[in-house]
Amino acid sequence: MSTPRPFHGGLNDAELKTLGLRRDEVVDFSASINPLGVSPQVEGSLRHVELSAYPDPECFELRTALGAELGVRRERILVGNGSTELIHLIARARLRPGDRAAILAPTFGEYEAACRLQQVEPVPIAASPGGRFRWDIPEAARRLAERRPAVVFICNPNNPTGTYLGRSEVEACARAVGDAGLLVVDEAYASFVDERWDATALLDAGNVALLRSMTKDHGLTGLRLGYMLAPARLVREARRFQYTWSVNAAAQAAGIAALGDPDHAEEGRRVVKAAREYLVRELRALGLACAPPSANFLLVEVGDAPEVRHALLTRHRMCVRDCSSFGLPGHIRIGVRGMEDSRRLIDALRDVLA
Ligand SMILES: Cc1ncc(COP(=O)(O)O)c(C=O)c1O
Repeated sequence: MSTPRPFHGGLNDAELKTLGLRRDEVVDFSASINPLGVSPQVEGSLRHVELSAYPDPECFELRTALGAELGVRRERILVGNGSTELIHLIARARLRPGDRAAILAPTFGEYEAACRLQQVEPVPIAASPGGRFRWDIPEAARRLAERRPAVVFICNPNNPTGTYLGRSEVEACARAVGDAGLLVVDEAYASFVDERWDATALLDAGNVALLRSMTKDHGLTGLRLGYMLAPARLVREARRFQYTWSVNAAAQAAGIAALGDPDHAEEGRRVVKAAREYLVRELRALGLACAPPSANFLLVEVGDAPEVRHALLTRHRMCVRDCSSFGLPGHIRIGVRGMEDSRRLIDALRDVLA
């Protein structure tokens, strides 16, 4: 079974060089990150990091801070080098060649890649564009109960469609997976959802793991930081596969500082909300179909996504995500930035689509 690298479609230095562009002159709408970047408190904390000492391999202080913030015991928290590392650790801990796995699709490519590295061919449970990218959850639960996969991945809210499942829908999937299986709920973008529900109570079910990313709401994208909340047994199992010191000292310090500055993430959410409303209105005024958004990105039907992406990049120095790799070659994904950038994007799209 081949295991190609998953495609993420972000800014690519080799492509930029070919096009004669510099990274710092391109406005990046391809990633969905707090438009304010990192908080000044995080920047300040980095000045005190001891770069010539090993980081704490247990991330004790960060796990303590996360536990206090979330009301979750430290034994139920595993910190990773971005949530991507945790996706792979879960797959390594729980999947063996020939096992069953399922993924609610279309979605983030790392789940499939992690399954395949374990020689497991995951079964996609697809949402249809006709259904505005919502899954038929009773039908999905029926299939899960029938096949009893060892691991099921759900991204909530889902990248790239924005579909956001409610508590009862996720609970139905957890019941269907059964005690022997594991339901992984990736909440990488959940902090941008206006009416978010708290999934931590699902941890008591014993077969649910929650993934969170601090690279989005806290902007620690280049530093890499994420965490898993899960039954203590799964934390121990996944930890066995984690390289010692995989979470570096700067990321740990930045994570603690970010938790101490909740206003920064909150301000980022406010900026996103205002710009998202503006973008949806203007995109629809341009005659473009836009899936109902729930987080800090928009899925927009543009016809020929590779062409639109290329034209925006070369003519306007703006990078959006071509969704071909999600199986949606007619769609682009726009990571919501501030109002000024959003206005420029709408002008650029008007020009490109003319
Ligand atoms: C749904 C989803 N989960 C996880 C990740 C990876 O996040 P991290 O930067 O924490 O590895 C991404 C990144 O795009 C994502 O879209």
